[in-house]
Amino acid sequence: MPVVEVEGLVLPKLFENNRPMAEHIECIRALELNDNDVLLCAYPKAGTHWMWEVGCMLLAGRPDYDKRTKENVMMEAIEVEKLQALPSPRLLNTHLYPSMLPRDVKNKKVKVIHVYRNVKDVMVSAYFHMNQMLEDSKSTVAEMDKTFLDEKCIGGNYFIYMKKMAEFRKENPEVPVFNVSYEDMKEDPTGTVRRLAEFLGVPTSPELCVQIAEACSFQNMKIADDTKQTPEWFERIPIPKVKFYRKGEVGDWKNHLTVAQSERLDAAVKELDGLDYHFRYTL
Ligand code: A3P
Repeated sequence: MPVVEVEGLVLPKLFENNRPMAEHIECIRALELNDNDVLLCAYPKAGTHWMWEVGCMLLAGRPDYDKRTKENVMMEAIEVEKLQALPSPRLLNTHLYPSMLPRDVKNKKVKVIHVYRNVKDVMVSAYFHMNQMLEDSKSTVAEMDKTFLDEKCIGGNYFIYMKKMAEFRKENPEVPVFNVSYEDMKEDPTGTVRRLAEFLGVPTSPELCVQIAEACSFQNMKIADDTKQTPEWFERIPIPKVKFYRKGEVGDWKNHLTVAQSERLDAAVKELDGLDYHFRYTL
């Protein structure tokens, strides 16, 4: 897959639209935000789409957000002119490093959501995702952790990303960050919706939280995805529609990883000790 590297982050070239990626990232940094905008940061496969839907419904104050006409707003893949034109409150999601976020995140009262997920399920999810896209060079399960642990893997390296997000929180204590795990969302979807509503400061009710959690269940999002408009940037991918809703479980890694692979990840994840993450590998 053709890639482009910017400031150490390797991205698929297909994200590039009307300007080179390095220039696009400069435009993202300069993007003017409003106080009520929200940034959603997540390493790929951590549950970005799920949280984006939940967040959009909360900002809209209703669970029937029309999934068929809204496309997931991923900053690195969309022309900055389109990002600028979106009405606030915007929920802008990204897998970019925090150093590439709009500078306004520190100047305005913008809130940040960071969704993270245990590395083993992320790796398995990424493996299936990438294999949908890599027609000629599909990797095997045996190879997947080698690719995944590479510092220059496509989409960025999990451990580097997680460290950078922790640094961002530490260095910018004034920026409100809702740090939540995929496993928390899975264990208590309604409670997570309620906590997120409190964090965002949006009006809600117990019924609305239940309704949003239900509207964003894996099954409902998978069904909705079949009727959803394909994001414009996906049309640049010369393969059938990429599926984002695969299994949606905690612990699927047990069905795919060898003991040795799992142990390699256990060792690697120690690098993240003390960074205020609470990883869970089963529920
Ligand atoms: P799996 O491949 O393990 O199924 P992202 O949106 O960051 O690309 O993450 C995709 C992962 O989140 C996929 O994981 C997908 O199935 C899962 N996912 C998407 N919506 C979900 C939901 N409503 N509930 C649980 N998991 C969900």
